[in-house]
Amino acid sequence: MTFDRSIKIAPSILAADFANFGAEIDAIEAQGADWIHVDVMDGHFVPNITFGPPLCKAIRKHINTVMDVHLMIAPVDPYIDAFADAGADFLTAHYEAGPHIHRTLQAIRGAGCKAGLALNPGTPVDVVAPLLDLLDLVCVMTVNPGFGGQKFIHSQIAQTRRLRAMIGDRPIHIEIDGGIDPATAPLMAAAGADVLVAGSAAFRGGSVGNPGPYGDNIRAIRAAANGVDT
Ligand code: DX5
Ligand code: ZN
Repeated sequence: MTFDRSIKIAPSILAADFANFGAEIDAIEAQGADWIHVDVMDGHFVPNITFGPPLCKAIRKHINTVMDVHLMIAPVDPYIDAFADAGADFLTAHYEAGPHIHRTLQAIRGAGCKAGLALNPGTPVDVVAPLLDLLDLVCVMTVNPGFGGQKFIHSQIAQTRRLRAMIGDRPIHIEIDGGIDPATAPLMAAAGADVLVAGSAAFRGGSVGNPGPYGDNIRAIRAAANGVDT
């Protein structure tokens, strides 16, 4: 995987048909997804529960792009090896998930994954500074984690701009997660983001039997982020 800052669209399977993950991933990749975003929730760090390592392992064989696993769980450390074994390319932990985030990021890289750090909207981006050497990705949450379909939080635009300046030339992706659609994508691209997670706005109107809307949705988000009129 070579590093680049071009816009990448990462559909979240949180918005897919949970009875049909394999076919949903096949369909959305065929329709132009760059990465597949996998939201793991534990009912403790966030108020919702999704799935764990066995499901991740089962869907891995359908992912031909990049498996981007967003851990909304606490604690994180006891589960790192299981998610690495499931085949995660990026493994992202929340800053707020525990007192030893430095150790957690070291352990993620130690397990052979790229290391991501997610920040809730209430967390200042300044906390990233001492961790830069341990990071391959920072995920700026533009909703409070736990559910798809929430309203985009505009105060995260200024935070993303500050994060982009802090990162400089380092090969660290800036990912935005929550409320991304063709209206909000250009705001975040301008602020310095390169990976745009989209749940509802990617899967809206389509299905495995009718995947065309997935492609329309992805193209609309990408064009908006790249400043192209459609
Ligand atoms: C929220 C998740 C997101 C979610 C985004 O906790 O981390 O990845 O799926 O969904 P939308 O795009 O609908 O806001
Ligand atoms: Zn997510």
